[in-house]
Amino acid sequence: MKLLVTGGAGFIGSAVVRQAIARGHHVVNLDALTYAACLDNVASVSDSPLYAFEHVDIRDRAALDTVFEKHKPDAVMHLAAESHVDRSIDGPSDFVETNITGTFHMLEAARAYWTKSGKPDTFRFHHISTDEVFGSLPNDPEQLFTEDTSYDPRSPYSASKAASDHLVRAWHETYGLPVVLTNCSNNYGPFHFPEKLIPVVILNALAGKELPIYGDGSNIRDWLYVEDHADALLLVVDKGELGRSYNVGGENERTNLELVQTLCKILDEKRPKSSGSYADQITFVTDRPGHDARYAIDPKRLRDELGWRPSVTVEQGLEKTVQWYLDNETWWRALQNRSGVGARLGTG
Ligand SMILES: NC(=O)c1ccc[n+]([C@@H]2O[C@H](COP(=O)([O-])OP(=O)(O)OC[C@H]3O[C@@H](n4cnc5c(N)ncnc54)[C@H](O)[C@@H]3O)[C@@H](O)[C@H]2O)c1
Repeated sequence: MKLLVTGGAGFIGSAVVRQAIARGHHVVNLDALTYAACLDNVASVSDSPLYAFEHVDIRDRAALDTVFEKHKPDAVMHLAAESHVDRSIDGPSDFVETNITGTFHMLEAARAYWTKSGKPDTFRFHHISTDEVFGSLPNDPEQLFTEDTSYDPRSPYSASKAASDHLVRAWHETYGLPVVLTNCSNNYGPFHFPEKLIPVVILNALAGKELPIYGDGSNIRDWLYVEDHADALLLVVDKGELGRSYNVGGENERTNLELVQTLCKILDEKRPKSSGSYADQITFVTDRPGHDARYAIDPKRLRDELGWRPSVTVEQGLEKTVQWYLDNETWWRALQNRSGVGARLGTG
């Protein structure tokens, strides 16, 4: 299969690119290389004859048309987005422009190409989205996000992703574009940009800095190892039913405080401090405005219909992640100089 992957120089997109090439797919990585991108994330596959890179912004319709004509993909996996909630609070316009307008241009370019190709049933436009579109759950284990949960986004980021999901469904209903959608919980793992919670905690811990926890640390997230997400995405683009959406999650709910304490424990074992625990560096800071209390995914549809299972528990995945950051200092040091990294953003 020839896949056009947007956002393939980012965290999740690069995992998709690496796995797709390992499975023998041709991949065209289309990325505008924003502050969040790093081509080193795909360095392990960039010399492969299966790999091509297009430095293109998804808001540039003419450039998108050229890429479709040149590469003639069998499927699109659309991951390019502005992805950091805190940045969306400080600067929502980039989120509206890339996540909504950019997705609109992707849909129109894909539709033009698909129409010109004779509208093959086999073509797929796979839109990759987040569980944050569903809003916030109470702390009740019986309540989970399913594919039928109503949309209730509460941050500029999640609102822009929700809007893009609606556009994708509309292009299916109105124009018949063969789409599939996925909504995934919080990812973590290698190549996670050092402004997100898990890398911030690991890197601040190693630097002897405070480990900032928003509010009282009781917010609950459902964590999924990024390689397991990439595996689910490659399954859905191939086997997902047309027009259908699939929730992807690891059934690994943790409060932010529990998560940070687990990371400290792993670091205490792998890189012990001369005295005390990394947990001594935990500091509670002012909460994020509109901070959603709990996200929790019911991945039943993906599990029962397509047979997907995550390969690691959250403890195994976190252990691998910490080890990866310990082994890849050159990668993260270079990114720490980028604009906004290390600063407290999104205080409203
Ligand atoms: N990170 C998560 O936990 C998570 C969970 C569920 C869903 N998602 C979704 O998965 C996708 C990827 O997330 P991520 O964490 O890898 O993001 P990321 O911020 O690490 O990477 C985004 C990539 O998109 C590119 N990009 C941004 N704007 C672009 C534009 N206008 N044109 C072309 N490329 C552009 C960036 O250069 C970057 O390489 C996003 O759509 C996000 O909403 C993320």
